[in-house]
This record gives sequence, C-alpha cells and structure tokens, in this order.
Amino acid sequence: MGILAEDIERVRSATDFVAVASDHVALRKVGRRWQGLCPFHAEKTPSFSLNAEEGLYYCFGCQAKGDAITFVREIEHLDFAAAVERLAARAGIPLRYDETGDQSRERQEKAKLSEAMARAVEWYHQRLLSSPDAGRARGYLKSRGYDGDVVRAYKLGWAPDEWDALSRALSLPDDVLEKTGLGFKNRAGKQQDAFRARILFPIFDVRGDAVALGGRIMPGADGPKYKNSPETRLYAKSKVLYGLNWAKGPVVDAGEVIVCEGYTDVIGFGQAGVPRAVATCGTALTDEHFRLLKNFARRIVLAYDADAAGQAAAERFYEWEQRYEVQILVADIPSGSDPGELARTDPAALEKAVVGAKPFLGFRLDRLLARSDHRTIEGKARVAEQAAALIREHPNAIVREQYQGQVAVQLDLPGESLVRAVNERVRQPRVDVAAPPSRAVEPAELEALKLAVLRRDEIIARLDEALFDDEQHAAAWRALASSTSVHDAIESTDPDTATLLQRLAVEDTAAEPDDVVALVVRDAARREFDTLTRAVTTDPTRFAEEQDLRTWLRITLEQLQDTETRVEATEVLVPWLVDRRRVEE
Ligand code: UTP
Ligand code: MN
Repeated sequence: MGILAEDIERVRSATDFVAVASDHVALRKVGRRWQGLCPFHAEKTPSFSLNAEEGLYYCFGCQAKGDAITFVREIEHLDFAAAVERLAARAGIPLRYDETGDQSRERQEKAKLSEAMARAVEWYHQRLLSSPDAGRARGYLKSRGYDGDVVRAYKLGWAPDEWDALSRALSLPDDVLEKTGLGFKNRAGKQQDAFRARILFPIFDVRGDAVALGGRIMPGADGPKYKNSPETRLYAKSKVLYGLNWAKGPVVDAGEVIVCEGYTDVIGFGQAGVPRAVATCGTALTDEHFRLLKNFARRIVLAYDADAAGQAAAERFYEWEQRYEVQILVADIPSGSDPGELARTDPAALEKAVVGAKPFLGFRLDRLLARSDHRTIEGKARVAEQAAALIREHPNAIVREQYQGQVAVQLDLPGESLVRAVNERVRQPRVDVAAPPSRAVEPAELEALKLAVLRRDEIIARLDEALFDDEQHAAAWRALASSTSVHDAIESTDPDTATLLQRLAVEDTAAEPDDVVALVVRDAARREFDTLTRAVTTDPTRFAEEQDLRTWLRITLEQLQDTETRVEATEVLVPWLVDRRRVEE
C-alpha cells in the first residue's frame, strides 16, 4: 500500500515541525535554529537542533536525524506510512493511496492468514491451560519454573499428540492452513497439523500479531528439539525478533536491548526482572534485525557466545555500529550456561552479566588474555600477535590505540610492540562524518556547503563541485546543486553524505558568501598552482608554457585577496579551474 507521493509532500510542507517536536522536546530559538534536549538519548546539555524552514533535525550527541516524518517514526516507533498518517491527521490533510487491485488483494489475504494464526495460537494456548492431555506438558513447564502466569504472559501452547486436532477444530480452508504453515494436505487428501506433541512458543511481530510458532519437544521424545514455522507471507525469520512486542517499552525506556538465542532465554530474562530481551529464532542476527532494533535502542547487548561466531561476526558488528550508530556489547554469560538457565540458578548473576557487558572488542581481548598462557616471552609474543589481529579489525583509530595501550599494560610489554603489531597490516581508517559541533570557524568548504543550505541563491551558481578537495564535500555540493531543496538533496545522495547534509542543515554560519567563495576558490587555485609547479620541475620541456600559466595564476590569486577585485577574480578562476579538473580526469 502506498500513499501518493504528492500527498506525502503536502503533509511534509504543511507540517509545523516545531510544534510536532515540541510535544517531545522543549525547544528554544537560537539564531535561525531551534535547540533542545535530544529526545532520542539522555543528555544534560542540548544537542538536538532543528531547522524549521527546511523541516530537518539533527542531534550532535547521538546523530539522530531526519525530517518530521522520520522524527515521528522514531519517537512513536511507527512505520513510514503510519507516521505520515499521523502527521496528515494533525495537519488535516486527507490522504490518497495508490493501491492497485493486487495490493489490496494481498492485504486482504494477509489479514486472513493473520486471523487464522491468532485463532490457532489461542486454541493451542487453551489446550495447554486446561486440557487433560496437556498435563505432562504443564508439569514439565512447572518444573522449569513456568507457572500459569508465565504461560499466560507468553501465550504458550500445547499441540496435542494427534494428527489433525487443530485442523479439525479450526476448519480452515486448505490454502490458509498451508500458507500459515499451520498444516498441510497429506497424501490421503486430508488436512494434517504441522505441530504434534510439542510445547508451543508463539512468535509475534513488533505490533503483537502472531506470525509463527516455535515448537519444543517434550524431554525424552524423539525428533529435533525445536520445530519452527516455515517462512510465510506473515513470517520472515530475518526480520522478526521473538519478544520485541513485549520488550519494546522497557527497551526504549532503558535505551538498551538484549539479544539472546532462544525463546526460553527471553522468558528467563523476564523472570529475572530484566524485561528487555529479544531473540533471533534459529538464525544469526541479520542486517534487517539491526535496522529494526536501532529504532528502539542504541545499546545492543548480546547475551550469547558472540565470540564463537568469531571474525565474520566482528566485521558485521563494526559495520553495524558505524552504519546504525549503535553500540554493540557482550554480556559475559558463563560458558556452558545460557540466560534461560542462569535465570533459574542465579538471576542476580544474569543481571550482573548484562550490567557489566563489555564492548565487543574488549570482550574478545579479555577472553583471549584469560585463556592464554603469557608467562614466557614466547607466550607473550603469541598473545600479543593474536590481540593485535583482533584490534586491527576495528575501524576506529582512536579505539584501536586505546586497546593497544591496555593490552600492552596487561601483557607488560612496551606500548610500541603492540602498535607495531597492529599497524603491520592496518586497514585504511574510515572517515568519521559525524564530527562534534565545533565552535571554531569551519574550513571554507564546509562554510560553503552551509551557505548553500542557508542562502542557496547567493552561492550555488558561483562555485562548482570540481573546486572541492574533499570528495564528500564535492558529493554534498553536487547533491545540493542538482536538487531544488535540501530535502531532495539528502534523498538523492549516499548515506554518509546525507548525514553530513543533515548536520549542516541545522547549523548556522555568520560567514558571508563573498568571503567563502573567495576562500574556496583560493584553496583550489593554490592546489592547481602546486600541480603546475610539480609539472614544471619534473618535465622541463613544458617549462615555458606552464611558467606563463603560473605567472598568470599568481597574479589572479593576488586579486583574490583584494576585496575590490576578488569577485571578478573568482569569476575568471572558477571556469578555468573547472576546466583544468575535467582535463585531469
Ligand atoms: P537451545 O538449544 O539453546 O534451546 O536453542 P532453548 O531455547 O535454550 O531451550 P531449552 O532452554 O534448552 O529448553 C536456542 C534457540 O535456537 C533455536 C530456537 O529458537 C531456540 O530457542 N533452535 C534450537 C531451533 O530453531 N531448532 C533447534 O533444533 C534448536
Ligand atoms: Mn538455550
């Protein structure tokens, strides 16, 4: 289902973003911007900033960013369409949907499956609560500490030891039975249940609609420990997290979500008084899980043996930390145990493991050091190498440096040994886009970009992306120059550049276009001057020709310094520099 793009645009421009945000943040006008305490992270000094004209916000503390729709999505945990609907209602704008016949059929079909799933969950649940044949299951659950309250809270169920108990009770059409994964038509042409003689853990989506079932075998019985619903139109394993429907409130309140492996781990956390755990359902964490989680919390605590997942996981974790601006930590669950078990044997230890969760890299290093023998020089060298290999994977140089120092101390080695070991094959450091707000004057290129946001008409035609030395600045300029609004520019560019634009959109500058244009042109011209100088020194045959150019350039650069002549000088230099750059490329 899609809301007409035109209507989304109307909602965006009709929305009084300051009023919307003011429901959640106390905003104060500072210059042309609004500022307040960020509603997306805990802070004492305001780093949330809002540009009312462009309808954009950016937080210098947690890098939350976007427009009014994003704001409502994140703060109310809604999907895009629901957020637009909310804002439309507020602004009194009726929405039109571009639903084709296919889409509305698809929606009706989904609703049918969803209803069947809800009925099945309820039916199984009632069986567990009261049916005589569920006596053993109730006893087993009780022996694990699951009383009636737990069974009701998680809507646990019992699939009777029969072929078709559910099918007979619900009389679903064949296609619905199959498309929900609740059953199938057997060779005799009869409806047959998918789950038999299993304790059922219903899996809900984030809104609380049942989408699948996980079925645990009774102890002592034959067969796989768990049988889970297949992927269906309702259920995509890579997107659903068990328990998020219950956990989302506490997760948002705590700014932290715990990710564990199984249904019983989530329930164990709940019983230990830590209601913010979710579980993947028999899969590894995926990118989509992360995209979902980062809307709820920025601290993601893994409560399973993340180290066992090893290096492949490390790369993904660091990437997610950067891309989604989350922090990934690991709780130290004693090996051989799991949260479900620990919740029963030592609930205080479970909570402690979460509170003491360490950053992924710190956790791996601690574990490496605890397990290895570094009493001999050779032993130390080996551990230092292994530690260096782990540290090297981290994309942030400052983080790497600190762990180098820490490990050196722990191994009683000179700091340089670790530095050398780490740097042997160090990767290219990545660019950190979200630099903290600086009160100092920004480099000219950034000032130019700010002005292109604030006073577009006074600057956009006077410069060109080819004049920017920094590739990202060039990309930002290109996006601004080829769009009619900052919003479109953000939409049209890559994520890192979009982040940069978001930040610039909420910043102010006192700089004047004439000054900034002159500075950007001067820097670009100086670079060109250096290039020419190098050409002259390396290839004497080009001397005469290039020498003339250098002279001309030096004179023009001088004109740039003079307020009387600088506008004219930039008008000459810009097209010339753009041409030079094109030739070089
Ligand atoms: P565990 O084997 O740790 O099970 O698998 P558990 O949930 O802790 O159950 P108890 O406490 O031993 O009774 C962890 C998760 O892995 C998935 C399930 O999601 C399970 O909760 N799994 C496990 C399967 O999908 N299939 C299996 O056969 C086993
Ligand atoms: Mn387990």
